[in-house]
Amino acid sequence: MKVFVTGHKGYIGAHLVELLKQAGHTVTGCDLGLFDGCEWEPCLPADQELRKDTRAITAEDLEGHDCVLHLAAISNDPMGDLDPNITVDINQNASVRLAQISKQVGIPRFVFFGSCSVYGQGEKLDLEEHDPLNPITPYASSKIDSERLISALADNTFSPVYMRNATAYGFSKMLRTDLVVNNLLGSALAYNEIRIMSDGSPWRPLIHCHDIARAAIAFMEAPRDRVHNLAVNVGGNSENYQVKDVADQVKRLMPAAEITFTGEVGADPRNYRVNFDLLSKVLPDFELAYNLESGMEELYRKMVAHGFGASDFEGDKFVRLRTLSARMDRLGVGQVAISG
Ligand SMILES: NC(=O)c1ccc[n+]([C@@H]2O[C@H](COP(=O)([O-])OP(=O)(O)OC[C@H]3O[C@@H](n4cnc5c(N)ncnc54)[C@H](O)[C@@H]3O)[C@@H](O)[C@H]2O)c1
Repeated sequence: MKVFVTGHKGYIGAHLVELLKQAGHTVTGCDLGLFDGCEWEPCLPADQELRKDTRAITAEDLEGHDCVLHLAAISNDPMGDLDPNITVDINQNASVRLAQISKQVGIPRFVFFGSCSVYGQGEKLDLEEHDPLNPITPYASSKIDSERLISALADNTFSPVYMRNATAYGFSKMLRTDLVVNNLLGSALAYNEIRIMSDGSPWRPLIHCHDIARAAIAFMEAPRDRVHNLAVNVGGNSENYQVKDVADQVKRLMPAAEITFTGEVGADPRNYRVNFDLLSKVLPDFELAYNLESGMEELYRKMVAHGFGASDFEGDKFVRLRTLSARMDRLGVGQVAISG
């Protein structure tokens, strides 16, 4: 297939490009390069590289492709808060416009990268796709509104599918340490201290970034009637953890590291445990390749091999918020000061 991937130069995109190429697909990658220079290891380029803002994609760019995998976004809550208008513009308006043009040029499948954060402050545990959504950040709202608006375009020529991804972790050539698992492991290596910023009680569904990329390809290749216009939680029932469980797993790898509660974010209102039964119904052959234990061990070995330390943990390179706030001009707005 000829696949158009937006945001292919990010944390998940680095895996996706490799997997697509290994499977024999031809990849056009479209990315603004917001995190250029933040590579941990050299990344495989797409077959065709388009350095472009998704807000400016044209029909000509998309013509001739069989599927769009849409990752490009302001990709977490703190970045989404930097400038909520830009977040809506990129995450929602540009996504809907991209879906419209994809449909117009006859691309039958559109895979949207959404998030389990749409459940926000979960009112019950084991949340399913039809449960009430409770977004508590501009980032989460932008993902829900995109699903709703893109779904109005679905018809017998155009099948969007919405991945509600669990929180990613694990090794990627475009490492991020601003994700809970990677962050706790990073702080242990940097300071011999596992620094939990909340009280450790919130539930989070977790998934290896490599498995998100594998799931996206499975959604791309699935029979239309299985996935047409469907929102699906992407993760595993056994992969819901409380933050304090994640810290315990880090301590298993680094027994000398102390678990500390910094209380920086107070009681974290984002608390959701998610049910993933629908994923195994719609993609019966898909299984996670990693669990938290194996994924964390792999990342630990990689970090040790790279000599990961305090300067890596404190620098901008692996923290999207710090890099982006210094590069807001690339999105057409001025630099934004951040604290911390
Ligand atoms: N990482 C997670 O835990 C997670 C969880 C759920 C959902 N997601 C979603 O998956 C997708 C990918 O996440 P990631 O972790 O790889 O993020 P990332 O920040 O590492 O990568 C995002 C990429 O998109 C590009 N981009 C951003 N805005 C752009 C624009 N306007 N035009 C062109 N390119 C642009 C950036 O340059 C970057 O390379 C996002 O949509 C994110 O919301 C991620």
